[in-house]
Amino acid sequence: MKAPRLAPVLFHLIRLERVGSTQDDARALAARGVASGTLVLAEEQTAGRGRRGRAWASAPGLGIWMTLIHRSARPFSERPALTLCGCLAVCRALESVGLAPAAKWPNDVWVGGRKIAGVLADTEGEAALLGIGLNVLHAPEDFPEEVRGTATSVRIEALRPGRTISGADAVSNAAPQDCGAPDREEILRAILSALAETLERFESDGPAPIVASIWERSIVRGCTVTVELPTLERVRGTAIGLGPVGELRLAAEPTPLAISSGTVIDMEEM
Ligand code: BTN
Repeated sequence: MKAPRLAPVLFHLIRLERVGSTQDDARALAARGVASGTLVLAEEQTAGRGRRGRAWASAPGLGIWMTLIHRSARPFSERPALTLCGCLAVCRALESVGLAPAAKWPNDVWVGGRKIAGVLADTEGEAALLGIGLNVLHAPEDFPEEVRGTATSVRIEALRPGRTISGADAVSNAAPQDCGAPDREEILRAILSALAETLERFESDGPAPIVASIWERSIVRGCTVTVELPTLERVRGTAIGLGPVGELRLAAEPTPLAISSGTVIDMEEM
């Protein structure tokens, strides 16, 4: 039987200056029944948050802070793969401007061994709230001290010696003297285009192709990792793949594991 033709994913952008968290604005809109594809984008978040209640620094004008309301027709059991759709879209957007991102299970994007973006998926009734935070124009001193050693931005990566990224001449969001600065609008357009494509693929073919594309870009592939579970228990094993909706599969003793939620706190290449 021929698969039904699905409507293309289109976005309706709501641009806001200053919010607590775009997740909260999107939640309120979703509760009022707004259409799928409504996307809240803020210049600044005063209470941006990440997984497990962590703070997400969202200084004004430096990043892309956004939440998409997505009403999926896929079974609810496949929802965890939406986080991977967000990560994949960010990876593809960064690849399109010349960077080499990696996905760090379950929701981070890293470049050059540091975190550049995070994805946060919540739900409001039937709607998924897909939050994406990408550091774009930050200099090292723009990050709070506690993450300065582990965070990076498109600008920091673009300014590494020998590196040029596409769009770096378009300095609409940068100081005039800063010729290597990326164009935030161009990166936003690249994310939205990759996100539309990724979500269309997810809606038509399910999680498998998304999971496969994330595993190809996964930084933990083949590494011996320690994962902290939500219970704070720690498990250790070799990352050998992802399960059907993105669970991390570990070869471990005495039995293999499939972890649906946790944080990789340590990894060693084999
Ligand atoms: C993480 O790394 O733990 C996820 C970070 C997600 C940050 C984004 S920024 C836009 C949206 N609003 C929030 O408050 N958080 C997400």
